[in-house]
Amino acid sequence: MQKLEVFGANKLRGQIKISGSKNASLPILAATLLSKKKVYLKNLPKVKDIETMINLLQSLGSKIKFEKKNLVIDNHKQNKKFASYSLVKTMRAGILVLGPLLAKFGNAKVSLPGGCAIGSRPVNIHLDALSRLGVRYKIVQGYIYATAPKGLVGTNINFSKISVGATENLIIAACLAKGTTTLNNCAIEPEIKDLVNFLIKLGCKIKWTAKRSLKILGVEQLNQITYSVMFDRIEAGTYLIAAVVTEGDLKIKNIIPQIIQTEINLLKKIGAKIIMKKNEIRIIGSKKIRNLNIRTAPYPGFPTDLQAQIMVLLCKANKNSLIKEDIFENRFMHVAELNRMGARVSISGNKAFVKGKTTFAPAELMATDLRASVSLILAALSAKGKSVINRIYHLDRGYEHIEKKLRKVGAKIRRIN
Ligand code: UD1
Repeated sequence: MQKLEVFGANKLRGQIKISGSKNASLPILAATLLSKKKVYLKNLPKVKDIETMINLLQSLGSKIKFEKKNLVIDNHKQNKKFASYSLVKTMRAGILVLGPLLAKFGNAKVSLPGGCAIGSRPVNIHLDALSRLGVRYKIVQGYIYATAPKGLVGTNINFSKISVGATENLIIAACLAKGTTTLNNCAIEPEIKDLVNFLIKLGCKIKWTAKRSLKILGVEQLNQITYSVMFDRIEAGTYLIAAVVTEGDLKIKNIIPQIIQTEINLLKKIGAKIIMKKNEIRIIGSKKIRNLNIRTAPYPGFPTDLQAQIMVLLCKANKNSLIKEDIFENRFMHVAELNRMGARVSISGNKAFVKGKTTFAPAELMATDLRASVSLILAALSAKGKSVINRIYHLDRGYEHIEKKLRKVGAKIRRIN
């Protein structure tokens, strides 16, 4: 099994180009199922989750190939409606094929994703909302058997809770439903805006009618298009934090700074110097890191996907901090490992009490999920000496060429078998 060896503590200096967004690419790939015409996608990140989604689409009968820098998806003969456990279990976003399959064929069999390291992660909101469009389903031996006897029929849906995945599944499904669907209490993550922009270009009729409301008019014909996926704001946030953790000086390129304004404001409060340009940010870490109380929240709040990374930074603050995790029930798996490196973080329910003034010490570590893994790298980058991080397959699910990007800016990091 592969490991990462990190020799800290070097200040990171230079520039990092941010890749395309994994979490925008996944629903866009699922949404290509709606169309019989070719779709050309640019800027997909080279990460394991995207490979898994491509495998899932191929298992459903999509013809997919790379042509220059485009991924070309041809679904004109796509005819299978079965998403297997083996593919959905490794990547929960596999559930996103349910909406488009139902919209296209009126029935589908999709594996339940099950839980994962960060919590039980149910799909009840997806299923309740699809039922409102006329879907009947039963769950047998871990599979959702869903049918829409009269096809999908548009209606008014109020999500009981803000869910990124359920909003995406429903937007995609409603694009081919009969009549008009209105979706309220939608997630408004930038990746959802990117999905909507993709679908509009594809020929779908979608309008934002209020901050969290969408109106979708079902259509029958879609276009052949080329679309470039947005930048990965979580990857960008991770490298911004890396700059501050190492007291470095980084230019983060290929981004739209306004999209990560919450993170920028917070890093400024902590003490980082930030210079924004149109498509890049220069961030200069300061020796003194100020403490902060943070809670994770749906966009435009602070993202749960950066909670583990910011914790590393707050461990080094001048005073104590509090982090409240309001999205996932069990997303503090990194804490035990950080404490092994000298952090003093204690957990009570969904709160983490973070003692400041930590000097991280190197250690042999175990990654538990995607964002937890990267937080261990950040801590290791700031610890003087050699750390080893095991189970890095989690990391490969979502960070493109992470060692290469970090090495380019002066980190001593290498992958070993
Ligand atoms: C997406 C992101 C993930 C991010 C999360 C929150 C992708 C591929 N993944 O995950 O990186 O951490 O948003 O920003 O984009 N819930 C229910 N029932 C449901 C669905 C969700 O109770 O049917 C709960 C979840 O357990 C969680 C909360 O709602 O507590 C938010 O989850 P959701 O926004 O749906 O996350 P994902 O779409 O799975």
